[in-house]
Amino acid sequence: MFPKWFNKWNRENPTNIYGPSILVGAAGVAVTVAAFLVVVGQPFKTESLQTGPRGTGMSVPEFVNQVREADPSIAGYLGRGDITEEDVAAVSAEALQNVPPALGDISEEDYAQLIVAMRSWTGIPDLMEDPENYQTQVAYTMVGMVQAINEGWIGHVQSNAVVGVTCYTCHRGEAVPSEIWFRLGDVNESAGGWAAVQNRVTVQSQYTSLPSDALETFLLDYGRIGVHNLEPHVAEYPDEEGVPTWQDTERTFSLMNYVSNSLGVNCVFCHNSRAFYDPEQVTPQWSTEQLGIGMVQEINNDWLVPLEGLLPAERLGPVFADAPKAACKTCHKGYQQPMQGLNVIDDWPELALTAE
Ligand code: HEC
Ligand code: HEC
Ligand code: HEC
Repeated sequence: MFPKWFNKWNRENPTNIYGPSILVGAAGVAVTVAAFLVVVGQPFKTESLQTGPRGTGMSVPEFVNQVREADPSIAGYLGRGDITEEDVAAVSAEALQNVPPALGDISEEDYAQLIVAMRSWTGIPDLMEDPENYQTQVAYTMVGMVQAINEGWIGHVQSNAVVGVTCYTCHRGEAVPSEIWFRLGDVNESAGGWAAVQNRVTVQSQYTSLPSDALETFLLDYGRIGVHNLEPHVAEYPDEEGVPTWQDTERTFSLMNYVSNSLGVNCVFCHNSRAFYDPEQVTPQWSTEQLGIGMVQEINNDWLVPLEGLLPAERLGPVFADAPKAACKTCHKGYQQPMQGLNVIDDWPELALTAE
């Protein structure tokens, strides 16, 4: 097919044709990808939030396409301005009789609006209709709890701006809020203590092998979170009172892991990771968390645990039949601020302060 001289020349000059064609092919792909990125933009671009001094690596990187996305549940929030006269007129006279004591002498008009809102926020259409219904009685407690949060923990729920909390912050249109939790404790009787709370795939341990009882230890009981100092530990034994064990350390990390996931941040959002123990190398958010821990302990012990006798059996915990409990994620739902800092409290002064 080719002239003789060409075949001869070809035989005498063997050439690797694969190398160059792979090179040409790779260059072609690179040009195509580059052209794609120029036209469409970098799909995995990140933005970082600097949280500490330069050079310490204190920054929280996030994908730009996620940062710009609005929390989808914001659209479902009913503000006072969204309530029509027909909505208010549809509230029955019976419901208006069932006023939570925490609301004091609220006017009928204001209470009717609040009923419309509470029904939308909790997704319970007949809330407050029947004073004997357990949901109405739980709602009485909930109103007092929301006021106590907004009044007593203003340093947390308004740490940056006027934000506050309503029923929707936890409930998001559902009777049972998402991200609630129950006690797990030592469920494995043949292996009490260490093994019974470790290496179990649970929501409480964020699916890690870390202890599953961090939330109950720190956010229900008042367990000590600190496990680290710069003193020598040579003379200490782990079974001594007040000496943190390896497992105590893992439990602290379990809590910190939970906290970070609840807010969608990493550890250096609050800490300088070279010194987790040092409260002089932290960000302002560390203190906001400190307040948050106290607030959650109060929510659980003063308001939610006492509901145990009121709630039907199917609402109670699977292991200890305990009342459902809240923690950071019950409000935050993975966001740095619940509903990305939407101001929910200005509209509802009746939920902002306890009635004195
Ligand atoms: C801090 C989070 C939080 C806030 C804020 C909150 N709740 Fe709740 N609520 C809970 C938890 C936790 C439960 C227990 C879940 C269950 O009943 O299984 C609950 C349960 C309820 C129930 C019982 C639902 C059922 O069928 O078992 C009602 C009714 C209710 N809340 C009403 C309200 C109202 C009204 C408000 C606002 C005034 C409010 N809640 C604010 C956390 C919250
Ligand atoms: C939202 C802020 C915040 C985030 C995020 C956070 N922490 Fe913490 N961390 C705290 C606070 C506040 C304390 C102190 C709690 C106390 O002692 O009452 C603490 C305590 C600790 C301690 C105990 C320090 C000691 O004194 O022994 C360790 C260890 C720790 N955090 C590690 C982490 C790790 C690891 C991460 C990431 C997985 C993390 N933290 C994420 C706020 C945060
Ligand atoms: C009752 C609802 C609720 C619970 C429970 C809750 N928070 Fe918050 N938190 C809020 C609200 C509302 C804000 C927004 C305040 C603002 O931006 O002014 C907030 C803000 C914060 C901030 C400040 C974020 C920033 O950008 O500065 C941190 C940190 C935080 N919360 C940590 C926690 C931790 C940790 C827990 C659990 C121990 C927790 N929160 C539990 C409602 C809650």
